[in-house]
Amino acid sequence: PLTAKVNEKDSLEIGGCDLQELVEKYGSPLYILDEFTLRTSCQQYRDSFAAYYGGESQVIYASKAWSCMAVCRIIDSEDIGFDVVSGGELHTTLEAGVSQDKIYFHGNNKSAAELEFAVETGCTIMVDNWLELKTLSQIASDKSKQPVPIMIRLTPGIECHTHEYIRTGHLDSKFGFDPNQLSEVFTYLSQQANISCIGLHAHIGSQIFERQPHKDLAGVLVDWMRKAQGYGLPVTTLNVGGGLGIKYVESDDPPSISEWVKAVSTSIEQACNDAGLPLPRLIAEPGRSLIGSACVTAYIVGSRKEIPDFNTYIAVDGGMSDNPRPITYQSVYRAVIANRMSSPLEEKVTVAGKHCESGDVVIKNAELPKTEPGDILVVLDTGAYNYSMASNYNRIGRPAAVVVYQGEANLIIERETYHNLIERDRLPERLVKQEK
Ligand code: LLP
Repeated sequence: PLTAKVNEKDSLEIGGCDLQELVEKYGSPLYILDEFTLRTSCQQYRDSFAAYYGGESQVIYASKAWSCMAVCRIIDSEDIGFDVVSGGELHTTLEAGVSQDKIYFHGNNKSAAELEFAVETGCTIMVDNWLELKTLSQIASDKSKQPVPIMIRLTPGIECHTHEYIRTGHLDSKFGFDPNQLSEVFTYLSQQANISCIGLHAHIGSQIFERQPHKDLAGVLVDWMRKAQGYGLPVTTLNVGGGLGIKYVESDDPPSISEWVKAVSTSIEQACNDAGLPLPRLIAEPGRSLIGSACVTAYIVGSRKEIPDFNTYIAVDGGMSDNPRPITYQSVYRAVIANRMSSPLEEKVTVAGKHCESGDVVIKNAELPKTEPGDILVVLDTGAYNYSMASNYNRIGRPAAVVVYQGEANLIIERETYHNLIERDRLPERLVKQEK
């Protein structure tokens, strides 16, 4: 949970910083990242693996949830590694000073240039498909003196109950090798001198509350590891992916980080015992459950429309460009009015964004005090897949982000200006000269 309190001005404070003051200073909308909460969830993952898993373990952050230099820096200092899925995320992580042996490069369609970048960097490559495997083998023999460390991603054929857009483990998924091709893949790998397959990976989806899918996955991974070792491959690392959900609204009831880690760890140990195998090095790659609850978004309330017998809309100065999750996945959020925290909840309203789409709704049926223009509406739990999925739709600049810690606030991402919005536009000479 956030390091939040209500101060003597009846205003919400996070990390010791008054949100009204932050909005006055940095503008709105504003992402506010609570460093203490982020560090706490990193520690919970690490401590839980130390407590529940008998073998070596490593937690890596799925940086697609929010990749920027400051976030990478904080997480790196907590001894957590990184999952990156593009040359851009790899570049960000390296620029933040993360060492290559803590970086794992995912993606279902990495370009040859991205693969070359990854090989030059020396990070571990999570190979997803045949084209990539063969391209990589060629790049490895051209460019690398040592065998390139890779892990193979397989589709585990495990279903889970989450939004269909964020399921990845079912057999009909674009991610990973088809497990029916296991023997072909392992045979091919056993013949490659320039690639070293150190492990196997699978990911089943995101925002998952059940424990069973990850327990089942543990059994599947251990079984694949046994088979891989049968082909003489040095497979001693298993990566169970990420996917632990967080509580966005009251009715959400996810397991805690420690419960999740315990379930995964004991299932891996059990499966290894049953198969008579030594424990693998175990990797988990959470994104949302590391950073999702560590950030809030502050908006300023503007116009209001009351439609008798239907609905009341209040509009805020952001929306689907800074948080596309509601319009993309029908995601739900909670909000508070940060400048008068003790006002009673008096009405149910739809919090709408400012974009030119009816679907641009931040929260449906939000229970709030009666709001006035100028109030500060704060949406909770916006750390994961908000900034990272933000766009410039309607040519609205992406918001600034600040990190708060022990009463100090620091800018970590600057707000995009009008100038930023046009700085990469080009006008061909022909159009400059054209008569009006
Ligand atoms: N590992 C792999 C291979 C993944 O594909 C993902 C997420 C993760 C780890 C991290 O999963 P997490 O712990 O965050 O659930 N944009 C969507 C979520 C997409 C997740 C994609 N993969 C959303 O806003 O809900």
